[in-house]
Amino acid sequence: MSSAAAVGAGKVVCVTGASGYIASWLVKLLLGRGYTVRATVRDTADPKKTLHLQSLDGAKDRLHLFKASLLEEGSFDSAIGGCECVFHTASPFYHSVKDPKAELLDPAVNGTLNVLRACKKASIKRVIVTSSMAAVGYNGKPKTPDVVVDETWFSLAELCEKNQQWYVLSKTLAEEAAWKFSKDNGFEIVTINPAMVIGPLLQPTLNTSAEAILKLINGSSSTYPNLSFGWINVKDVALAHILAYEVPSANGRYCMVERVAHHSELVELIHKMYPDIPVPNKCADDQPFVPTYQVSKDKVRSLGMELTPLGTSIKETIESLKEKGFFTFESSHL
Ligand SMILES: NC(=O)c1ccc[n+]([C@@H]2O[C@H](COP(=O)([O-])OP(=O)(O)OC[C@H]3O[C@@H](n4cnc5c(N)ncnc54)[C@H](OP(=O)(O)O)[C@@H]3O)[C@@H](O)[C@H]2O)c1
Repeated sequence: MSSAAAVGAGKVVCVTGASGYIASWLVKLLLGRGYTVRATVRDTADPKKTLHLQSLDGAKDRLHLFKASLLEEGSFDSAIGGCECVFHTASPFYHSVKDPKAELLDPAVNGTLNVLRACKKASIKRVIVTSSMAAVGYNGKPKTPDVVVDETWFSLAELCEKNQQWYVLSKTLAEEAAWKFSKDNGFEIVTINPAMVIGPLLQPTLNTSAEAILKLINGSSSTYPNLSFGWINVKDVALAHILAYEVPSANGRYCMVERVAHHSELVELIHKMYPDIPVPNKCADDQPFVPTYQVSKDKVRSLGMELTPLGTSIKETIESLKEKGFFTFESSHL
């Protein structure tokens, strides 16, 4: 155990949706700091959801799996009762949905309230909720290179709905519901609002944000999308969750974006690092590139952390996708 281990020794915390991409890193870092972790998963009998957690250092003694579903009222009560802190990460993240209400909105919003009600019953002092930049920047205000987005920005639910941005809507409504619950019940929450999260995968399955990089390197498309996204490393996101609990003065929302980059810049970065990977070399449309913008790092730096540079995060993602067999390119330098 590292010297940071003492921080969590004897403390029991809960992570919801523990088998997910971000949550797996959160569990790993929590175990590394000595915490005892109650990890909720939907199917405790599915090795794809549990083995990677059970093989983490410290898991044998300090990881306990609990079965829980966002859509079942009271489902989280036993996992949360007796914990000092809850990290609520569980929420569906994918784009091809047939029934947005059933697949995304209900689990995100009702699931968050379900978890928060369990936290209230258990008198949890602070709950860290995994929100998203999706709940921050989707408000119709122009975003250009001179604009600095920060935690005072809130996405507009009506706009998400009008544009059928269902995942963005699910995160916007879930965060709104969480803050309302916090206010109505005099109960402390902190939200972590990451942009697109990349970096190494611990779980054996492909998650939505790592797939965005995979699509640029696996030859599936000859074009890159005309999109600019914020990017952030998964290990930084996991650490910010923990610091949001451990740092007594932590409060409010924490935007997490190392850098906003257009996809053309991503393919350039990849090409420089891996000249043999045939990345797409033209944009999917002939419109002007969607502009980049800035996102303030002041708040997240106040937790005492720095963010991993985008190039490093991309490299870590590619190495991990290769190692896990999602991507093979025989003549590459990988
Ligand atoms: N990755 C990103 O770029 C990004 C950016 C900003 C915010 N976020 C947020 O971060 C959180 C984790 O995302 P991720 O990228 O790590 O995605 P992920 O790997 O797909 O993990 C999502 C987790 O949510 C759980 N879940 C989904 N529906 C559920 C339900 N009905 N009941 C119980 N659990 C349910 C999943 O459980 P199963 O394993 O059982 O399916 C999984 O553990 C989400 O809140 C997401 O909105 C992600």
